[in-house]
Amino acid sequence: MSNQKTLVHHNVYFMIFGIVLVWGTLVIPQVECRAFFVFGDSLVDSGNNNYLATTARADAPPYGVDYPTRRATGRFSNGYNIPDLISQQIGASESPLPYLDPALNGPRLLVGANFASAGVGVLNDTGIQFVNIIRIPLQLEYFRQYQQRVSALIGPQQAKQLVSNALVLMTLGGNDFVNNYYLIPNSARSRQYAIQDYVPFVISEYRKILLKLYDLGARRVIVTGTGPLGCVPAELALHSRNGECATELQRAAGLFNPQLAQMLSELNSKVGRDVFIAANTQQMHYNFINNPGAFGFVTSKVACCGQGPYNGIGLCTGFSNLCPRRDLYAFWDPFHPSERANRLIVQQMMIGSSEYMNPMNLSTILAMDSN
Ligand SMILES: *[C@@H]1O[C@H](CO)[C@@H](O)[C@H](O)[C@H]1NC(C)=O
Ligand SMILES: *[C@@H]1O[C@H](CO)[C@@H](O)[C@H](O)[C@H]1NC(C)=O
Repeated sequence: MSNQKTLVHHNVYFMIFGIVLVWGTLVIPQVECRAFFVFGDSLVDSGNNNYLATTARADAPPYGVDYPTRRATGRFSNGYNIPDLISQQIGASESPLPYLDPALNGPRLLVGANFASAGVGVLNDTGIQFVNIIRIPLQLEYFRQYQQRVSALIGPQQAKQLVSNALVLMTLGGNDFVNNYYLIPNSARSRQYAIQDYVPFVISEYRKILLKLYDLGARRVIVTGTGPLGCVPAELALHSRNGECATELQRAAGLFNPQLAQMLSELNSKVGRDVFIAANTQQMHYNFINNPGAFGFVTSKVACCGQGPYNGIGLCTGFSNLCPRRDLYAFWDPFHPSERANRLIVQQMMIGSSEYMNPMNLSTILAMDSN
């Protein structure tokens, strides 16, 4: 028992201070471990919804067909998702576990946690058809609970430092259009707002969420915009005759993303430092949507897994068409990028110019924060 305790403490020192006792001498390892927290929707959910009674889930084959275990984990990908690839880039020992995973305990808490839940949006009424999902207010409440648990493990001062040194990823917004405003013709929100008024409303609610995250101690937050919503196979299947992207959703994304970037830069001025980093995922996606061949894809219109036109109808299940070579497809299922597309996105997050990452990219963050 007491041996176990000592082991735990060594782990804690390693994680927090980058210092570990080996043969009684102090050794400083090269890699600084920092915690990583993830909030948002299916693009970044690593399996929270497996523990919930909801239809928004990815815990059955062929999801995970290219994951190291070859099993469906709840990630909406054939293999790794964006949080996995960011974890690898920052040198973390493992991807943060889903917050609802019972294995997230003890020293493993110090790696971080993933609070994301497929189907959620900025607004509470987004994704209501998925019933039981972790909406953003609850994701933030879980983050507060998490900090209490870490505090009990390593003390309040160190817990606070772990959170303020951590990297945070926030991916939200697409569902406020796809699974709310445009979900059905004459949706409640579309009767309430014209699209050019709905977007500023969503942005103003998003701003409150980010300020809450800041109040909870987050100090390095990558906020992704939406992809080109009208160009995903699901929307092509519904609206496209010749492969052209769906106009209304493109207009929505075109309004949302610049206003998000603007809001983030205004928030940074308000808090007096570069806490929020805008990731221009719309442009990152456009690159391979406009020229899939240049990135080694055979198509950016047809999903690897699905059915109907563009494989864009319904869900990806064991009965769907499944492409033999997942790496040749930009989209894995009707809504979500393939692992290889995720790699391209994370690579741009890492080294992209200010057109992609504003005010700085992840390699700059890592270099700055390690000083
Ligand atoms: C969303 O729900 C939370 C609590 O569940 C509430 O505090 C918040 O005000 C709601 N947001 C909006 C925009 O209604
Ligand atoms: C992004 O990363 C690259 C290489 O790591 C660096 O040279 C470049 O200046 C960075 N760009 C910005 C805008 O931070």
